[in-house]
Amino acid sequence: MGNADHHHQSATRSHEAAEGTGAGPGHTKTGAGPDHAHAHAHGTGEAGETAMAELLDLDAEVLFSYLSEVTAWVHDLAAGGPHQRILDLGSGTGAGAVALAQRFEGAEVIAVDKSAYLLARLREKIRDLGVADRVRTVEADLDAAWPVFGPVDLAWASSSLHHMADPDRALGEIFATVRPGGLLVAAEIDSFPRFLADADHGSSGLEARCHDVMAGIRAEEVPHMGSDWGALLSKAGFTIEAERTFDIVLTPPLPTATGRYAQASLRRIRSGLDDRLSTADLAALDTLISGDGPDGVLRRDDLTVRAEKTVWAARRP
Ligand SMILES: C[S@@+](CC[C@H](N)C(=O)[O-])C[C@H]1O[C@@H](n2cnc3c(N)ncnc32)[C@H](O)[C@@H]1O
Repeated sequence: MGNADHHHQSATRSHEAAEGTGAGPGHTKTGAGPDHAHAHAHGTGEAGETAMAELLDLDAEVLFSYLSEVTAWVHDLAAGGPHQRILDLGSGTGAGAVALAQRFEGAEVIAVDKSAYLLARLREKIRDLGVADRVRTVEADLDAAWPVFGPVDLAWASSSLHHMADPDRALGEIFATVRPGGLLVAAEIDSFPRFLADADHGSSGLEARCHDVMAGIRAEEVPHMGSDWGALLSKAGFTIEAERTFDIVLTPPLPTATGRYAQASLRRIRSGLDDRLSTADLAALDTLISGDGPDGVLRRDDLTVRAEKTVWAARRP
């Protein structure tokens, strides 16, 4: 944690849709998450979960400034009402749960995930960070019957809604769980993190080709990704207060974990691409993700981080 110092260029294209109208000056930048994570045959079982946990943690560390900016914004939106009970849906290793517990002093945070392993990692983290007395975990498959959580003042769903088998149903459950006047904040990835310049070391466009193939895989395997979330939130009964797009552009000096983040991200992608890229591209990718080579992302000093994410803030009337 604590990479608040690095340089983080921003140029936001955010439009705030107060009462569904208008485009305000937005601001910010940053953030996309490890959802490259979920698509496809990236390791299963314990090794897969360990890799996923590491990627989620690195994501939180490198994109710290994005998360910090979003929680500050949400804190402002929540001002004026109680915000004592917060629900993190699909919490993973707790990036959001921890950031919210730190931002909303004294609040109780319930972190829900279907992965016992990720929740165990979350519990380690909250002990280390001293918020264990305010964050609790619930292991639940949100595609099945929902435990009773409510009423909560704030529900948070970061890169998790698109995982739901039936997002309409999940949003109906969330609506019933958020108190009248309370908020749902949903974040979704528009563009996954990229680390290399377009014309990179003789493998020009390699990263773009990887992302194109991954997009095709995701379209089949995660069909709800890229849904019109604003429309779905409205349909569930929420009033959209704002929709903001965060463009991440991190340039040197980068957070120290950036090399490991790039390596973990590209490894995750690599595992799904075996017979879908040319031999030359696969070899170039292997060079990038190898741990020790001078051309591996761990040792390169010319990385950047670019990604895009959209966040909706919606209120239950
Ligand atoms: C891409 S991760 C995002 C994790 C975290 N919100 C973050 O931003 O770092 C998606 C999370 O949703 C969880 N998830 C997916 N489907 C779920 C379901 N049906 N019920 C509960 N959790 C689920 C996964 O286990 C994973 O931890």
